[in-house]
Amino acid sequence: MYLTKEEEQILNGEAGETLRQAIEILVALGDIYGADRLIPIKSAQIAGVSYKTIGDAGLEWISDLQGKVKVPAILNPAGMDLEDWERLRISPDFAEKQKLIIQAYEKLGIHCECTCTPYTLEGFDVSYGDHLAWSESSAVSYANSVIGARTNREGGPSALSAALLGKTANYGFHLDENRVPEVSIDVGCSLQKSDYGALGYVAGKLVGSRVPIYHLKDIPEADELKALGAAMAASGAVALYHVDGVTPEARRLDFEEPAEKITIDRSQLEEVYESRKKVGKEPELITIGCPHCSAAELKKAAELLKGKTVSKEFWVFTSRELAKHYPEYIRIIEKSGAKVVCDTCMVVSPATNSYSCVMVNSGKAFAYVPGMCGAEAVYGDMEACVEEAVGRTAKKEGGSH
Ligand code: F3S
Repeated sequence: MYLTKEEEQILNGEAGETLRQAIEILVALGDIYGADRLIPIKSAQIAGVSYKTIGDAGLEWISDLQGKVKVPAILNPAGMDLEDWERLRISPDFAEKQKLIIQAYEKLGIHCECTCTPYTLEGFDVSYGDHLAWSESSAVSYANSVIGARTNREGGPSALSAALLGKTANYGFHLDENRVPEVSIDVGCSLQKSDYGALGYVAGKLVGSRVPIYHLKDIPEADELKALGAAMAASGAVALYHVDGVTPEARRLDFEEPAEKITIDRSQLEEVYESRKKVGKEPELITIGCPHCSAAELKKAAELLKGKTVSKEFWVFTSRELAKHYPEYIRIIEKSGAKVVCDTCMVVSPATNSYSCVMVNSGKAFAYVPGMCGAEAVYGDMEACVEEAVGRTAKKEGGSH
């Protein structure tokens, strides 16, 4: 891989040990994946924040780093609400370690907004064609697919290294040739809102890490694309997808139709909704906000919960910035007894581990909750989640899709 003179000097340790380690990581990845050089990035989103996932070894590594990031950088969700961690009964020991992790990132000049929806943050603009180093798989999918920016699915250390250098290695989804659709997905039914998470869950298992192009009967909205991409990144490893006539590269570029075709029909989506029947348990905890709720999703949750009282634990995850911008929605949601929780999520927080069955409206959470939280997962739409929480469930299997 070609390095400039300045990059060579950094690699030789002339700019200090932190930058030497950082460039060493990027050069190693570049060599493995055949990068020709390092390229500038506009921003970084760094995973490896929850103490639940990185433990003491991660805390130690981050704490030893010196210097400041060179591009705007934010964090993935942490293991707890940083301002109100006691509400979800996080232990003081965990909270102490989590705070040390956040302090270590802050020391490096990282803006400690902890969210998997960085594209909703003010001043963290992302545009078509921008090169990024983002980690969280749903954010990566959204940036690549819905915005048309370019990022690989970075690991925490490589995203942090990229932030410290302001550069990443030029391979994978930074290159035109890797952004071409490899498999075509025809969806043979019309889709309602919650169907996109179910569709992503089914499709991700079928396409693995390839780039699919969808042919849909409907025109999905941004939150539906968010749900689709998040689920595909979790049940498979999809970091980029296109929707014919909808997503920016599918509209601007003249893609050839891939030879391999998959058809997904309503019966495959129904299997996801039937999770409740299969699990055979009552959900004890209901969660929405995977990925973190948008303003529109907070509004919808507030409308559904207005004037009602929940009888089960109901957690609504969103970014702190959005929670601050929409106090009226938060007030209505919390008046019902539901909890709006920021900086964290049902998967990376240890708070979920004490429940044996969790209801979600996200294909990604549906894929991850069993492995990451040791709980059974049940899938339903937001209406069904609210009905379950207020105790007036219509008892439709999985919800009112
Ligand atoms: Fe975000 Fe956590 Fe889901 S990081 S995408 S809410 S698993």
